[in-house]
Amino acid sequence: MRGLSIPLLVSAAVTRASALPSDQPSRRATISWDDAYAKATTALAKLSLSDKVGIVTGTGWQAGNCVGNTKAASSIGYPSLCLQDGPLGVRYINGATSFAAGIHAASTWDIDLIRERGTFLGQEAKQLGIHVQLGPVAGPMGKIPTGGRNWEGFGADPYLVGIAMRETIQGMQEAGVQACAKHYIGNEQEKNRESMSSAIPDRIMHELYLWPFADSVQAGVASVMCSYNKINGTYACENGGIINKLLKDELGFKGYVMSDWNAQHTTTGSANGGLDMTMPGSDFNNPKGNILWGAALQSAVSSGQVQQSRVDDMVKRTLAAWYLVGQDKGYPTATFNSWKIGNYNVGGNHKDNVRKMARDGIVLLKNIGNVLPLKKPKSIAVIGSDSIVAPKGANACVDRGCNDGTLAVGWGSGAIEFPYLIAPLDAIKTQAQKDGTTITTSTNDNAQQGASAAQNAEVAIVHINSDSGEGYITVEGNAGDRKDLNPWHNGNDLVKAVAAVNKKTIVVIHSVGPLILEPYIDNPNVVAVVWAGLPGQESGNGLVDILYGAASPSGKLPYTIAKQPSDYGTAVTSGDDASWDLFIDYRRFDKNNITPRFEFGFGLSYTSFTYDALTVTGAPTAGPAVGAKAPGGPADLFETVATVTAKITNSGGVAGAEVPQLYIGYPASANAPPKQLRGFNKLNLAVGASGTATFKLRRRDLSVWEGGRWVVPSGEFGVFVGASSRDVRLTGKITV
Ligand code: NOJ
Repeated sequence: MRGLSIPLLVSAAVTRASALPSDQPSRRATISWDDAYAKATTALAKLSLSDKVGIVTGTGWQAGNCVGNTKAASSIGYPSLCLQDGPLGVRYINGATSFAAGIHAASTWDIDLIRERGTFLGQEAKQLGIHVQLGPVAGPMGKIPTGGRNWEGFGADPYLVGIAMRETIQGMQEAGVQACAKHYIGNEQEKNRESMSSAIPDRIMHELYLWPFADSVQAGVASVMCSYNKINGTYACENGGIINKLLKDELGFKGYVMSDWNAQHTTTGSANGGLDMTMPGSDFNNPKGNILWGAALQSAVSSGQVQQSRVDDMVKRTLAAWYLVGQDKGYPTATFNSWKIGNYNVGGNHKDNVRKMARDGIVLLKNIGNVLPLKKPKSIAVIGSDSIVAPKGANACVDRGCNDGTLAVGWGSGAIEFPYLIAPLDAIKTQAQKDGTTITTSTNDNAQQGASAAQNAEVAIVHINSDSGEGYITVEGNAGDRKDLNPWHNGNDLVKAVAAVNKKTIVVIHSVGPLILEPYIDNPNVVAVVWAGLPGQESGNGLVDILYGAASPSGKLPYTIAKQPSDYGTAVTSGDDASWDLFIDYRRFDKNNITPRFEFGFGLSYTSFTYDALTVTGAPTAGPAVGAKAPGGPADLFETVATVTAKITNSGGVAGAEVPQLYIGYPASANAPPKQLRGFNKLNLAVGASGTATFKLRRRDLSVWEGGRWVVPSGEFGVFVGASSRDVRLTGKITV
């Protein structure tokens, strides 16, 4: 546990990971923005216009060690800035850690693990001399279940994403690297991402898509990456409405906005729209041509199309972010080369975090007759290509753009080189040897071969998966976005064939997002379904920890698993996207009374928990937030206005962790979703032990965006505390 100043509210048998309340002392980067700006202002005075332009213009694609680089300014000791992907580890390095993907980190609901992951990400980046690490990801947010890059982010709920962003950013920046919250904003699919326009109404923008970026700004994020798409017809990277007005003015963002790679389209439009840095600085596909800033920006200043003050502002923001995290003091210089991958052992003991996350992010969906945890079975059949490392090697395809073995991360710029990858079969074999269990295998996806391996085994474990990634790579017909919500390689047929011959069939699923489980979920021979997510390099070890009961499963779904794809009500679109509403994921299922297969927040355990003793104290005043402008919005938005507590007891037979969740129902006048996540804790409880879940509600958590401001509506708010979005155990109310 890191040092929080709040007292632990639970007994010694309990460790506590809660969504941090707003009254925590801020644990920001090394100095304040004000001090960073003072230094930046002094430095600015020593720079020529050409220095300034060099600081805000990338040197060009593959023109430097990192995926993005800028020019040094020797008069102020400012280096060539190194910007490098990505959100789950350092890209293009052998020997950096492949952490659990964002979506898997989210499914732990464990802010201490998420925070530690952020710290370790930052430490590795710093050791390598990376100034800006291109993550974490708050967009896409999972509006579309087949969206190719959902796995880079933290799930389909803005509150959960916001907390994970805050913890990751603070961890990274305290370690010394600048974080980059991306992709801003409304980029929810890969198809046509560079041309489509998202028409997001103001309320929906604020209550869903902008929300986690506000948390990022409040956490002190150094940089934000604008996305490829247009918003209301104007490209994100030159959209004054979303950069100048929303991000810089309304949210009070003090850092700089960089373009996604090649997402800049004009010289003056982008400068005046609020862009502060162009990346990579030249046309992606034509490094020699189409340089929109550099000399062109200098000319635009000379001709008065861009004010000198605007360029000064770009530079000040960029320098301030560099000072903010202390990179002016002896920061390492990058020596690696992205274009010629070399060996750097920077992983340290970070694999412990990966294993814990691999383990604690696993969501147990079905477990009939307590078949799990396994108890030294005599024989096990291990089936499916997802049970082994790809025959050509874990890193065989560029940016992990193939799906030939066990799936542990998706593909694209958010992927890394695995330092090693423990596949399920590797770890199961190790355990089997200790237990004297015989293993038979069929490590392809052939249904007949799988069935013959399974037929005489006591237990059959079938591994299936579903992959996706960034649209510049197409894998087996999936152009970034997934073609559908079925497992790859006819996984449903594989499961059915095995279950037809083995009465103890266990399905293990590695997936970037939801799948339709209907073909086998009610099959009585499918006795267990283990949602193993996207766990990173320690995949097999984390899985075995759960399969054999070294730990009780404690992951909860960060999205809904539907019975049929149409239940989500969203899909990848071919043209512009005008279909935005407040009802994504569970908000829609609740509103339309659609029964999901497994709801948002769901996950089984090997033990059981009882909930009681709900308390609700405090209530906000009705009306708008009126606080002074502060990072993230008016200061009072982040003040605690009510506190909910509940007593959670481990009433089962083994130790385990529970994730009590708080959902709020707004007064009818708010026209809000029936329930919205507004708090969660993670409590580790010994057998018979009790702990207190404490949920601090900020003013923002009870506000709606109305008439251009955050307003707490008057009326009755429903308070729902439970083990998922539908398993409500305690109810109360807050009257405003
Ligand atoms: C494009 C991706 O959208 C972005 O996430 C990434 O950081 C850049 N490429 C650089 O690789």
